[in-house]
Order: sequence, then structure tokens, then C-alpha cells
Amino acid sequence: MQAAAIHYFSGTGNTYRAVTIVGETLKRAGYAVDMHRVSEFAAPPVKKYQLHVFAYPVYALDVPHIMLQYMRKMPRDSARAAVIAIFGDFKPEHVANGYEGNALARARKALRKKGYDVFFTDATGYPHSITIGLNPPMKEDQIAIRAISDKKVEAMADSIVRLRSSRRRESPLNPVYGIFGGLFRTIGRRSLGKLYVADAQCNGCGKCVRSCPAGAIALSRGRPRWSLDCEGCQRCINSCPSRAIQTSLVRLTGMLGLQVLSLITFIGLFFLPYASIFMDGTFGPFTVSGWWSGFILALAVWAVAVFLLNRYVLDGLIWLGERSGALRPIFHATFTRGYRRYLDPGFNPVEPLPQAPGSKRQ
Ligand SMILES: Cc1cc2nc3c(=O)[nH]c(=O)nc-3n(C[C@H](O)[C@H](O)[C@H](O)COP(=O)(O)O)c2cc1C
Ligand code: SF4
Ligand code: SF4
Repeated sequence: MQAAAIHYFSGTGNTYRAVTIVGETLKRAGYAVDMHRVSEFAAPPVKKYQLHVFAYPVYALDVPHIMLQYMRKMPRDSARAAVIAIFGDFKPEHVANGYEGNALARARKALRKKGYDVFFTDATGYPHSITIGLNPPMKEDQIAIRAISDKKVEAMADSIVRLRSSRRRESPLNPVYGIFGGLFRTIGRRSLGKLYVADAQCNGCGKCVRSCPAGAIALSRGRPRWSLDCEGCQRCINSCPSRAIQTSLVRLTGMLGLQVLSLITFIGLFFLPYASIFMDGTFGPFTVSGWWSGFILALAVWAVAVFLLNRYVLDGLIWLGERSGALRPIFHATFTRGYRRYLDPGFNPVEPLPQAPGSKRQ
């Protein structure tokens, strides 16, 4: 019997829905199918498979950080591999309006480096779930979008079972999208977790902690606290049973303010070498000359300042403010309280046990 592995990451269940369809099709065709749910707590399997399917949501026109790490840890193999990316849609009449950008090309190259024969790549859209900033589609639109995309995934599954080669067209702008995606993977996703707040509805049940695929949430005195390990997957905000997780306006304003301040600092530092021309090339303990040295100095100081301010000063101040009864309503101010929450109906958000040895949560 042929063996197939389906490796998937899914924040809110859309990708899980798609791979369930692919898995059923593979089983009907006689494959023994193993499903591998990607998380901080799971390592790639060492078992040999004749066919691999990789599936994940599109984040910032690229592959999610957690999925790319997983692909890079896959054992070297020359087996056949298919890749499916799932993007977000708002209206059924615009299904496929989401855009995968560099998400398929990046995965194809990462897998090819490991020796895999990537014969199939394709993408489709399911209801978007970026609840941190946008209201998910209405219930009836969700149902209609899912019905359209299920059909598309059935067609993809049929091609995969027949090992029919097909590659979705890749954009010439992918190198540009790739820079955007790379910035999101290294910096952007981390700041998303820092925008959340648990409001007065939180009862400390800990479901968000057990659901986070990145181990980025911990309870501190009965309330969730987000670390910089967030993947941006939107599972916590969409799956809290009390709908207590919100985007904090104070945090959002603080972070945007910090970006503006740091940009001003960056520009100021960049021009330092020009000022230093009038000071024999020295400025305090630094000797700087030429535009590039100013650029490197500015970049280094800017990166360290943003990290330290964000990690210790801004986060600490907000955490203290949230604990003070009088100030709490200000810190709980949000625009997401009235937003719908979105999880695919068949998806269990809680990460399964047991987990990989050496993982953050044993
Ligand atoms: C941080 C983040 C970035 C996203 N970027 C894109 C994007 O660039 N293009 C797009 O079409 N959808 C984008 N989406 C939407 C998701 O791809 C979409 O909601 C997807 O269906 C989620 O799948 P899941 O339920 O398996 O997590 C983004 C979602 C998140 C959370
Ligand atoms: S899941 Fe919701 S109610 Fe439970 S601890 Fe997390 S934020 Fe609070
Ligand atoms: S903190 Fe929330 S959004 Fe971030 S990885 Fe965990 S569940 Fe996903």
C-alpha cells in the first residue's frame, strides 16, 4: 500500500478543512494517509512516504514562519510533493480574490532544496479570519465561500491523486513580495501578539494557552499574557469561549507611536555622518564617515531601541496599566468587540497532546 503524509498548518481551520478533503480523496484511491499538524510542539516525521502534501494559509503574501521552519526541518527525500496555499476571501462573488503572492514559490524552492519532486502547486480562498483588524465575513457568506472553495479543493485532490503535474502561475513580482513576507516572518508576526488584550469577560480558563500553536501565551495571575513568539495565526482571538480577546487600541497606538518615533530617530541617525563632517568625523565615542556608515549605525541603534522599548518599556507600562482598576477601561478600549469570530466548524483549536520531546509545553 502506498503511504501519503499531509503536513498542514492552520490557524483557524480553513487549511484543515482543505486537507481533510485531500486526505479523504487519497484514502479512496488506496493510500494510507497520516495527518501531521504543524505546531511549535511537533517535529517532521522520519517515516518514508511515497507522497507528501504541504498546506498552509497565506500570511503577508508568503509562507507562515512556523510552516517554513517545518519544511526546512524535513528529512532529505526525493519523494513527490504537492503544495496547497489557502488565502482569505471576503465575499463569495469574489472567491479567489485573495492573493498568495510568493507563498507557493517560496515553499516549492524550500522543498526542492531538500530533494522533493514538487509536481503540483495551487491555491484557493476560504473566509478570511484576520479578526485582529478586519471583521470576518457574515455567516451566509462564509457558507457560500466554503462551498465554492470545497469544489476547487476536490479538483486539486483529484489532480494530486493522479500525480498530474501542474504549477500555478508565479508572479514576476515575487522577489518584492518575498521581502514583505520576510519582514512579516521576522518582525511583523511578533508584534501582532503584542496588540492583544484580554478584557473583563476573561475568566482565566486557559483555553487560549492550550490552543496557541506557537506556545506564545502564558497565564499570569489568571490572565493571558502574549510573548514575542506569536505567529499571527488569529486562533486565540477567534476561539476564546468568552470572546474576551480584543485588539487593544492603547497597544496599537503605543506601537504605531513607537514606529513613528523610531523612524524619526532612524532618519536623525542617518544624517549623523553629514553633521560629523563639521566635527572631524567624530561624534561622541563614534567615528563615522560616508552615508553607508550612517545607515548601518542608524539601523543598528533603531533595531535595538525598538526591541528594548517594545519588549521592556511599552509592554511593561501597558501591563501595569491594565492591572489598575481605574485605568482598565482605557486599556480595554477596542474596535473588535463587535466583530464576528471565525473558526471553521470542523476545527478543534486546542493543540493535541502528546508533543515533541524538548518542546515548550510537555
Ligand atoms: C497575519 C495574516 C496575514 C495574511 N495575509 C494574507 C495575504 O497576504 N493574502 C491573502 O489573501 N490572505 C491573507 N491572510 C488571510 C488568510 O490567509 C486566510 O484567512 C486563511 O484562510 C486562513 O487559513 P486558516 O484558517 O487555515 O488559518 C492573512 C491572514 C493572517 C492572519
Ligand atoms: S480563552 Fe478567553 S476566557 Fe479563557 S483565559 Fe483565554 S482570554 Fe481568558
Ligand atoms: S498568540 Fe494567538 S495569534 Fe499568536 S500564534 Fe498564538 S494563537 Fe496564534
